[in-house]
Amino acid sequence: MSEYFYNLPTAAKKSKLQFLKHSYRGFRPIVNKDFTVENYPDLTDKICIITGMNTGIGYEAVDILLSKNCTVYGIVRTESKGNAAKEKLLEKNKNTKGSLTIIAGCDLSDFNTVKQTGLKIQELLKDKEVDFVIHNAGLMSNYNDRSNSDGIELMFATNVMGPQLLQAYIDPFFLTKKKSENDMKRIIWLSSLAHMAAPTPYGFNQKDPKYLDLKARPHSSTLYGQSKACSILQAKAYGIKHQTDEKYGIQSVSVFPGILTTELARDYPRFVQKFWNMAFYAPRFGAYSELYGCFYPNLETGDYVIPFGAVDTPRYDVNSALENGVCVSFWDYVQNEIKEYLPKN
Ligand SMILES: NC(=O)c1ccc[n+]([C@@H]2O[C@H](COP(=O)([O-])OP(=O)(O)OC[C@H]3O[C@@H](n4cnc5c(N)ncnc54)[C@H](OP(=O)(O)O)[C@@H]3O)[C@@H](O)[C@H]2O)c1
Repeated sequence: MSEYFYNLPTAAKKSKLQFLKHSYRGFRPIVNKDFTVENYPDLTDKICIITGMNTGIGYEAVDILLSKNCTVYGIVRTESKGNAAKEKLLEKNKNTKGSLTIIAGCDLSDFNTVKQTGLKIQELLKDKEVDFVIHNAGLMSNYNDRSNSDGIELMFATNVMGPQLLQAYIDPFFLTKKKSENDMKRIIWLSSLAHMAAPTPYGFNQKDPKYLDLKARPHSSTLYGQSKACSILQAKAYGIKHQTDEKYGIQSVSVFPGILTTELARDYPRFVQKFWNMAFYAPRFGAYSELYGCFYPNLETGDYVIPFGAVDTPRYDVNSALENGVCVSFWDYVQNEIKEYLPKN
């Protein structure tokens, strides 16, 4: 076991009732009619960095951001997909005063490419300040035996380690004081109802969250669940580590966007995808959850947003990690694992 996880305090017990209530809200979400796109601020001269925006929730979020005149930097894995999305989005938002710059080649499971992307972002931003960061990209694999080139379980590498590494390169442009009291600065970490299926306690496997040992790997749903519980821990830990509220007026929150008909289930058999597309909600609704995280005024660091615009408590043992500092131990563990790729300053 890693030294970061010795002698952790006891966590609250998870509850079946909470699981049922949370699942019900996931499958039957409520649209928050008191806080809609009309209530979002105008975003002229505001900068947002968002990952995985070529499709799904990220694409819809950028559509709305451009309609509000935001300057968007879209970080994608595949250049052609990013450019195709850009063309469609700019065609839809001809009158925007904002812009969309695609930065391609970022495979979040390949830390060398994340580092290169981070350096590209730094070069492009120069002396600009970032107002919003949305760690939207994510993988929900149907397989438990997929790993990156270092043998790290692929969803942990993609959904947890990659975003934390990328953020280290964005920090110098993001961790700056708000220009005025009314300005908003937010960072969003994408979570899911699936965090309910994460390992107990605390939502991650303290023996080895990277699951280097293939034989020790649980079902893929538990691995995806782990990655999404970790996003909840990262949201709070980022705020604590950088004193984001106190020093900069930044809130760092996690968001479960809803269960949506995106390409997320692409790895699953066709019948699952068919059912998924019949039963669930359009990706646009996921963007409402994500942007509630960005723009709803009364959010605090560590809040967990649920669809389509409300705050709830994550699984009780995961919530314990937010209260007793285990989220910070987890953050430090990841930071140590990615140290060779971190910016040298
Ligand atoms: N849809 C849902 O029901 C649901 C529910 C809960 C949470 N979420 C979360 O919402 C977020 C957005 O998902 P979505 O539903 O919009 O799914 P999606 O349509 O599959 O989009 C996922 C995005 O992530 C990118 N991505 C995947 N693996 C990547 C990697 N290794 N490196 C860089 N980018 C990568 C994809 O790029 P490519 O196109 O190049 O693969 C794509 O742009 C995810 O974090 C997901 O876990 C979704």
